[in-house]
This record gives sequence, C-alpha cells and structure tokens, in this order.
Amino acid sequence: MRVAVLAAEAVPYSKTGGLGDVAGALPKALRQIGVDAFLITPLYRQTDESLIAHLAIDDLWIEWRGTNYKAQVFYSEANGSPTFLIHAPEMFFRDSIYGYREDYERFAFFNHAAIVLMRHIGNAPDIVHLNDWHCGFAAVEIAKLRRWDSFWQNTRTVFSVHNIAYQGAFGMEELWKLGFGDDFSRHAFSFNGAASAMKAGLADSDMLSTVSKRYGYEIQQTENGYGLDWLLRQRSDRLHGIVNGVDYDVWNPATDAELPAHFDAADLSGKFECKRALLQKFFLPENLDKPIFASVTRLTSQKGFELIQQTVGEILATGAYFIALGSGDKNHEDFLQKLRDYAPQQVGVYKGYNESLAHQIEAGADMFLMPSRFEPCGLNQMYSLRYGTIPIVRAVGGLDDTVENFDRVTGTGNGFKFHDFRADAFLEKIYEALFVYYDKDAWRKLQHNGMTVDNSWENAARKYVQLYQMAKA
Ligand code: ADP
Ligand code: GLC
Repeated sequence: MRVAVLAAEAVPYSKTGGLGDVAGALPKALRQIGVDAFLITPLYRQTDESLIAHLAIDDLWIEWRGTNYKAQVFYSEANGSPTFLIHAPEMFFRDSIYGYREDYERFAFFNHAAIVLMRHIGNAPDIVHLNDWHCGFAAVEIAKLRRWDSFWQNTRTVFSVHNIAYQGAFGMEELWKLGFGDDFSRHAFSFNGAASAMKAGLADSDMLSTVSKRYGYEIQQTENGYGLDWLLRQRSDRLHGIVNGVDYDVWNPATDAELPAHFDAADLSGKFECKRALLQKFFLPENLDKPIFASVTRLTSQKGFELIQQTVGEILATGAYFIALGSGDKNHEDFLQKLRDYAPQQVGVYKGYNESLAHQIEAGADMFLMPSRFEPCGLNQMYSLRYGTIPIVRAVGGLDDTVENFDRVTGTGNGFKFHDFRADAFLEKIYEALFVYYDKDAWRKLQHNGMTVDNSWENAARKYVQLYQMAKA
C-alpha cells in the first residue's frame, strides 16, 4: 500500500506542537510495518538545512491563481521515511510557521503543490492522509480530480482531526481565487457564512479519524464540536479514534541524548541525577526529597493553565518545587514571571520554546500537570509515563484514554485524573499524588506501571493501516 502523509509541520523539520511529533513519526512507523509511506511538508525558514539530503526537483511548475509558480522540492529521510519538502519561500520563509492573515492561502498552495508533486514521484498513492485544517483543501481537490483524471481514480483520502478548535476560516469570496469556485467545492467549504478548510476536510474525505477515542466522542457533542458536531455525527460511521503513539527513538529515558543520565523501569537511579541537574539548571536548592511538579505547554486557553494558577500556591505551601516551560498568552507568561519572583527558591520558569529542556523536565520532574480544558490526544502525559513522571490530568480527550487513576489498594493505574474543571477537583488529585509520593514503595509501583505501558507507534500504525483498508474497500 502506498501512502502519502501531508502535514503542515513534522519533526525534525518543523514543530510548534504535537502535530509535528505525530506527522514526523507516523510515516516512519508505517514503513516499519511494511507500508510504502512518504511525507510531504513545507520547507520553512525554521527548518534545519543540514537535514536536507538533496534537491529532488528544481522546477515544479504549479498553476496558482492564474499564473505559473515555480517551486523546488528537497528530499530528506531525517524522520525515518522519504520526505519531500516543498520550497516556496514567498509562502513559507517567514518569521513564524503560522499566524498570518493569509495562512489559508499558504496552506491551500501547499496542498495544491503536493498534489502536483505526487504526479511526479511515482504511482498515485492508495491513500493520501491529510492532517488538520491545513490539509482540508486537498480532500476537495482529490475528490474532484477523481472524477475525470484516471491517475487519481483509485486514491482515497483519510482526514485526521488533531484539533477542531483551529478551523482555517476565510471569506467565501476567496474560494474563486484558490480554484474552488465551483458548486461542489463551495458546498464542501461553506460553513456559517464563511469558508472553513476544516469543514472541507471533514466533508469530502473518504475516512475520518481523530487522535483519541474520547475526543472522537467529544467533538460530536455541541459543547466541543466548535460548530461541526452535526457533520461529525452525520459521518460518525466514518470516524475512528486512534490514540497517537510515542516515538521511543526520540522520547526514551534509556537513550535520550538530551539527558545528563539515563534510566529505565528496572533502574531509576539515573532519574535522581536528572532531578539534581534540573534543580541546578534553574538555580534551585537541591532538596532532592521534595517533589518537582512540572508543566511544559503552549500557554493557550486549551491547556487550562488557570487551574495551575489557582493551585500553585497550595503546591508551594507543601514545600514542593514547580518548574514550567511554556510560551503563549502574555497574562500566563506574566504570571509565571511573578511567581518566580515571589518564590525564587521553589520556582523555575523558562518562557519560550526549548526542545532540549522539554526532555530534561520530563526526566527530572516527579509529577506532570495537564489540567486541559480539552485535549485531543496530548503527548506530554505519555512522555511523562515513560520518564517515570506521574501525570496529573483532567479526564478529557486523550488524557482520559491514556491515564488511569492509581489505586493504592490494588496497585493498578499510572497517574491521577479529575473530571470537573475546578481548582478544588485538581487540588484533590495533587494532594493524593503527594500522599503517594511520600510512600516510596507505592510511588515506585506507580512509576513502574507508567514506565511499562506500551504507547509505541507500532500499535497506532497498525490501526491506521486498518483505517486505510476501510477507505479502500
Ligand atoms: P499540543 O500539540 O496541543 O501543544 P501535545 O501534548 O500533543 O500538545 O504536544 C505538545 C508538544 O510540544 C510536546 O512534544 C511538547 O514537549 C512540546 N512543547 C510544548 N511547549 C513547549 C515548549 N515551550 N518548549 C518545548 N517543547 C514544547
Ligand atoms: C493537537 C492537540 C494535541 C494532540 C496533537 C497531536 O495539537 O492539541 O492534543 O496531541 O495535536 O495529535
């Protein structure tokens, strides 16, 4: 089976969040189980040039808004699968990957360029796997091409929702310029008086998926569907929830090159060294018996950071440390700064994005806080599990699917989760975790349970293959 994965970001070429982790790892995992998978993604200014193996196509001519646009295509296998990086500097060489008024146009271009490219690089894929709103355009274009172009006749599309809160909305009048002025396309994009790339992907793809079972259910409800719940209910027979995997080549405390010491489920002594190094890094006193609570996150309303703001005072009152790595909303960033000034002996803060530090925090911390308002899958709780860092999460989306409450009597479970979006509900779990932390045997058991969970990509990749087969049937 030949599968093209399209994504706006993919590790190690680009990353702003979990989508990058997933899009980088999935094609590799598919190849490891015998699928002929490859990745297509934009080449950004932020992409590390040393990852590029060679120039694959010097002049990919793309008909775009009435003119002929010449793009280049670079090739790499740095993520473990063949990857084609579309080089169109006008579109993708910017100060940041997203955040421009014309993002819809940039990714419409990316989709169209990917479709032109696929004709140049061998047989038509059996499956084009599209991710999030940035790839909704290709669902419509392929559905149209299939009607008259024999090349695409046997290709099917799978569309994965990583976050329905971002929809790629723009004015309907723009559709003409983007080559989607016909009735079929307008119908696919049309949503509440505007055009939505997310809606187009959901409407016109052959199969749909999302990144956890629970989120698959949630987005069919009015409260969480961001206006598209009706469409997901209508197409629920096509919608499957597949929990993301973890790339254990990248996120493995036994081999992680970012760490000062290594450890695994059988021998945790290295974790102690990681904790010491983490405290040193933030100039905190080395009270190694005190727990470190940590957070690594985009500071957006999705992540429920208010609940951390409301409870961190209580956490510090117990003598524990709190270490945060994040960037985003200014008021949350300011809060972190003030907190650090208020308790410099207990609080470590890094404002910004820092991949290496994210690994060091996962390894050195004792507990990881994720009180998300909603969370399609969430990767950090799964990284935490492998690193012996206990997740305390809100029971939503993928957090609910992957974290099981610890039961001290039976010794089962791998973390702590609460339901209501309220500080007291969160705090109750924080205290429960602290109670277990000071019972060394119970804590060791809890860590062991989490560290031995298998969230590898292989399981997830096999489920995607089943989905692809359903799309082809
Ligand atoms: P989301 O994609 O919604 O941000 P996920 O949990 O799926 O949430 O993935 C977040 C990814 O981004 C993880 O790999 C995490 O380590 C990383 N990350 C988030 N914020 C930062 C940051 N400030 N610095 C480094 N890595 C970060
Ligand atoms: C989105 C979601 C996150 C998920 C990631 C990868 O960014 O917010 O929950 O883990 O996509 O699927």
